[in-house]
Amino acid sequence: MVSPVVPPLDAFWMPFTNNRQFKTQPRLLVAARGMYYTSTDGRQILDGTAGLWCVNAGHCHPKIVEAVQRQVAELDFAPTFRMGHPGPFALAERLVQFFPGEFDHVFYSNSGSEAVETALKMAIAYHQIRGDSQRTQLIGRMRGYHGVGFGGISVGGIPANRQLFGQLLPGSDHLPHTHDLAHNAFSRGQPAWGAHLADELEALVARHGADMLAAVIVEPVAGSTGVLIPPVGYLERLRAICDRHGILLIFDEVITAFGRLGASSASEYFGIQPDLITLAKGLTNATVPMGAVLTRRGIYDAFMTAAAEGSIELPHGYTYSGHPLACAAAIATLAVYEEEGLFARVRDFALHWQERVHALRGLPHVVDLRNLGAIAGIELAPRPEQPGARGSDCLQRCFERGLLVRVTGDIVALSPPLIISRDEIDQLFDTLADVLRLLP
Ligand SMILES: Cc1ncc(COP(=O)(O)O)c(C=O)c1O
Repeated sequence: MVSPVVPPLDAFWMPFTNNRQFKTQPRLLVAARGMYYTSTDGRQILDGTAGLWCVNAGHCHPKIVEAVQRQVAELDFAPTFRMGHPGPFALAERLVQFFPGEFDHVFYSNSGSEAVETALKMAIAYHQIRGDSQRTQLIGRMRGYHGVGFGGISVGGIPANRQLFGQLLPGSDHLPHTHDLAHNAFSRGQPAWGAHLADELEALVARHGADMLAAVIVEPVAGSTGVLIPPVGYLERLRAICDRHGILLIFDEVITAFGRLGASSASEYFGIQPDLITLAKGLTNATVPMGAVLTRRGIYDAFMTAAAEGSIELPHGYTYSGHPLACAAAIATLAVYEEEGLFARVRDFALHWQERVHALRGLPHVVDLRNLGAIAGIELAPRPEQPGARGSDCLQRCFERGLLVRVTGDIVALSPPLIISRDEIDQLFDTLADVLRLLP
């Protein structure tokens, strides 16, 4: 049912939103099914962004809805501090099998940001318990997004997300990002140029001292700062340098896990084994908030061995770590991914997707197009003196024409549910092309 009643908009302090502007021109969604949202005025809006890169199996999937409904009626909540219930154990078992590689334990949070804080703390603590207590410094990357905790914004490479918040984690530093229009504009898939930028990690090692660095955290594909695809060989070099210096490598896979690249994770897609992986979003198809950290074999064991018998090995956790509803949603979601072969679907449509992305070349304002799996970035030239204005205008015009896109500044990011059909891919790009042709 579409509710025509719009509540007063003032009291909700909206996240990452220009509140004053939004509230003069709100875009409200009241229902969703499959590939489409329904807006307050009853229009069907094609979801080009899987919500916020999270509804990978499509909206209101009946099997996931049913699993959550059943769970809430049976066990609404149970603590996981010194207590347990079957859900998180069953899910952890499922997750370590789901992801190829050497992962053997799972720690739960409620969001990607909390997964990042957890992974950073684990990395530092891992060195501490092994007697490497000076290894506390963390390396992120410019234009990296790792959520909004103090750790995440410290390693994150978005100055605007840091400026208002005073002291950050001491000693955190950043690799350069790999995006350079002069060298890798209009790349299809991974850019050929840029692997050498991983070697900057050696410079950071030299600056800080190898034995001071706890971990490097990167998004294998950066999403929030406008879809930055790793150059061929880049992630492999990062892994090799981390190995050389005993630094843990964290892949923040909050958006890349669960099929976005046609594989369970970017780690699987690129064939690289990180030490920790952060998960969220597609883990529960976004029905119930949940994040997680997946740890490589040996990390959990190190904590179990180091701590005194009877003591708590890792003093960290959230009231809702392993919440029953989230676990039920995640178990049902993983089953849907497998039963419906959704990751294989991405592999099947990836070429068509790529062709449609790059067919936008030559349209007004388009200065770069990039793609990988079910991801695309369309970079527009900014309006003079008005960075971001063209992007916002594009978002609004797409919405008016029945398409939801995400914009970061003047970059349009696309990441649809993996159930998207060929016709819907065509509909998405036809609408976007129409908007770009008229966009001032
Ligand atoms: C790579 C990455 N890490 C962390 C986060 C933060 O996740 P959350 O918003 O669930 O806290 C995001 C969110 O977009 C993300 O893209």
